[in-house]
Amino acid sequence: MLASTIQEYQQRVDNQLKQRFNTLEDSAPTLKAAMTYGALLGGKRIRPFLVYSIGRMFGLELDKLDACAAAIECIHAYSLIHDDLPAMDNDELRRGQPTVHIAFDEATAILAGDALQTLAFEIITEPLVGISSEQHIAMVRVLAKASGYRGMCGGQAIDLASTNKNIDLNALTQLHNMKTGALISCAVELALIAANAPKEHYIAMMDFARAIGLAFQVQDDILDIIATTEELGKPQGSDTESNKSTFPQLLGLQGAQDTAKQLVQEALSVLAKLPYNSQLIADFARYIIERRI
Ligand code: IPE
Ligand code: IPE
Ligand code: MG
Ligand code: MG
Ligand code: MG
Repeated sequence: MLASTIQEYQQRVDNQLKQRFNTLEDSAPTLKAAMTYGALLGGKRIRPFLVYSIGRMFGLELDKLDACAAAIECIHAYSLIHDDLPAMDNDELRRGQPTVHIAFDEATAILAGDALQTLAFEIITEPLVGISSEQHIAMVRVLAKASGYRGMCGGQAIDLASTNKNIDLNALTQLHNMKTGALISCAVELALIAANAPKEHYIAMMDFARAIGLAFQVQDDILDIIATTEELGKPQGSDTESNKSTFPQLLGLQGAQDTAKQLVQEALSVLAKLPYNSQLIADFARYIIERRI
């Protein structure tokens, strides 16, 4: 059920993205090719999965969620293109193929990230039948906040500043919450806003989101050590080689694995208290720490 639904939503958001890319004129063909390459060739689409599955859990139809799913994946694709740049993690492999600055060049990779970011806001501000203006503005704000200074970009800055340094668990947790947790929480929140989720359930689901967002990056840190380059489609050992601050580096591999497990338990206990069919989302929470890619 989980695997087939992940695949269904993956295809759905890919179609949504393809439609939007197809409407872009060919005025800057290299840039367009780099955006398409960075956004469409591979990737698990876990943020769109969360948008769709949580929207469905709260009774919303998928077509009301398409724009949110496509927009957040554009932000994520941009974040990866910039994350791999020589000035950042300097990685040459992503999703099993050369990173955008290797397949194209650095300037094109910078611009592809920039243009994907603004495309996300073009998409999320498309007219949405059945969504009020208040809901729509809230969605745009949440996406902007999660992407920028108080979210992903801020986290990336702290990540770079924490390289070759010893930081404590609180600081590392904050860094992970910002660089990765913010966009994952945003995926959940976009669905909650679109579905007009009851306040109490909204708050509970944001606790769920924080737990899985952190677990996701802890597992990413773990996979950098235990998975192979072939499995990951990105260079194994990149964090160790760059002396990054990570959960295994601070707590040891076992400590990091225990933390990830505990976070997933917290996420599951939130779901268990809610009056919805959350089987699929619970399976997804478990998958976060079982995955090898
Ligand atoms: C990788 O994200 C970077 C992190 C934020 C941990 P994903 O693991 O979601 O990457 P793709 O999209 O599946 O390639
Ligand atoms: C990236 O974290 C988080 C982003 C905002 C892209 P990592 O640097 O650990 O992601 P990977 O391992 O390169 O995918
Ligand atoms: Mg990084
Ligand atoms: Mg990286
Ligand atoms: Mg990583």
